[in-house]
Amino acid sequence: MTTIRRVAALKSAQDFQEYIAALGITLPFDEKVEHGPASPLAQIHQSARYTLGNRFAVLPMEGWDGTTEGRPNELVERRWTRFGQSGAKLIWGGEAVAVRPDGRANPNQLMMLPETVGDLAALRQLLVQSHEARFDRSDDLLIGLQLTHSGRFARPHDKRLEPAIAYHHPLLDKKFGIASDGVVMSDDDIKRLIGDFIKAAKLAQQAGFTFVDVKHCHGYLGHEFLSAIDRPGPYGGSFANRTRFLREIVAGISCEAPGLDIGVRLSVFDYIPFQPGAEPERRGIPTSYGEERYPYAFGGDGSGVGIDLTEPLAFLDLLQALDINLVCITAGSPYYNPHIQRPAFFPPSDGYQLLEDPLVGVARQINVVAELKRLRPQLTYVGSGYSYLQDWLPNVAQAVVRGNHADFVGIGRMVLSYPDICADILEGTRLQRKRICRTFSDCTTAPRNGMISGCFPLDDFYKARPEYERLQEIKK
Ligand SMILES: Cc1cc2nc3c(=O)[nH]c(=O)nc-3n(C[C@H](O)[C@H](O)[C@H](O)COP(=O)(O)O)c2cc1C
Ligand code: SF4
Repeated sequence: MTTIRRVAALKSAQDFQEYIAALGITLPFDEKVEHGPASPLAQIHQSARYTLGNRFAVLPMEGWDGTTEGRPNELVERRWTRFGQSGAKLIWGGEAVAVRPDGRANPNQLMMLPETVGDLAALRQLLVQSHEARFDRSDDLLIGLQLTHSGRFARPHDKRLEPAIAYHHPLLDKKFGIASDGVVMSDDDIKRLIGDFIKAAKLAQQAGFTFVDVKHCHGYLGHEFLSAIDRPGPYGGSFANRTRFLREIVAGISCEAPGLDIGVRLSVFDYIPFQPGAEPERRGIPTSYGEERYPYAFGGDGSGVGIDLTEPLAFLDLLQALDINLVCITAGSPYYNPHIQRPAFFPPSDGYQLLEDPLVGVARQINVVAELKRLRPQLTYVGSGYSYLQDWLPNVAQAVVRGNHADFVGIGRMVLSYPDICADILEGTRLQRKRICRTFSDCTTAPRNGMISGCFPLDDFYKARPEYERLQEIKK
């Protein structure tokens, strides 16, 4: 592997483009970033249902920091206030919100329950108010809520996994210590959970959210169904069975919460789980599987490290048939192949060292969305994985939207370190380099070690907290 250059060291547009070419990848890139109303990123997005004021979206990001009853507290409120001030006109999901207690990914995950609906309505309102205070209007702002059950990665009480799985996965069961058949959900368990998704969606509508995201990404339960090829019965095996979970939730929402829109955040491709390779480099390597074909990657080509869009395209066709237009594209899982999901220079503490330039991971996600947009142009696409572009995020974002390679540029980590970056780009304000996310991964390492998430290196608010010192110790 050739030496990986830090993006911060690529000082000019020419340096960046030459480096991209040397990596052998392609990325849309505009040398000049425009601002003001004529800028491609400032263009209104008009659909039959909505008018959105620009082409930025804030991606869902949880903080492991709500109350144990699933209510927001001041840390959650601070994050959502900043989402509102970001300048983005689409708030995709806010953060993962469990539809019931055993589906939480951590004991502090928000929940959408009859007891919490008022708190989540107030949280949404806080975001709207912060947006109006900064941008004078919110009639062109769209806010959805991400609904989830964490399935294999549920940790509702403490650091211990308390999984509920769709099927036994030969590698993930081993990696995460699953042996018992008791954790495989029965068809009746699944039916009850579908009912809980529908109830939560109805509550989300009451709370004022315009749409709910029926989460199908990152290895959580919705995503796991898509690769449940070995599961017998109505929720596994054929493509029609593996998407039954989604179809039944959608049918229930249409019945119980008419007028509520639905979106889907989808890991559109997946790879085999990765693990650290030999010391001292500990570079990520695919876990050995022992069969010629690795069949458990939805959107995979059977090699474990390649993409085949046949099933993802069928999934997008299904969304259209279900009258779902909003789709947010992401990839893989932060638990077993983080490099394809959130490209970073510094791995999280439970990760592995770089096996490819993170820009390759960025280009993979951007180019897949472009391909989907070309093949299924009727859908509205939000892309992910832009934060590693750092200083060059605006140039790529503008070129992507100008070339119609995605409808919205979704921003994740960068909004934690630099909450109003979208506003700065749209207004033509010179980017503040000290706030640019350098993908230190502390926002992932902290929760992996039982702490709240946040941008510890660049946000003074988190730097001043006691968790900062603990994090420094862990990183040693
Ligand atoms: C701290 C943290 C929390 C996240 N929480 C969620 C979540 O609740 N739901 C979700 O779909 N994705 C979640 N993600 C993934 C992001 O939405 C996004 O896909 C990822 O960070 C890549 O985008 P980026 O390069 O702009 O950061 C999270 C990411 C981070 C870093
Ligand atoms: S901790 Fe801050 S700088 Fe590091 S990856 Fe997260 S947002 Fe970026």
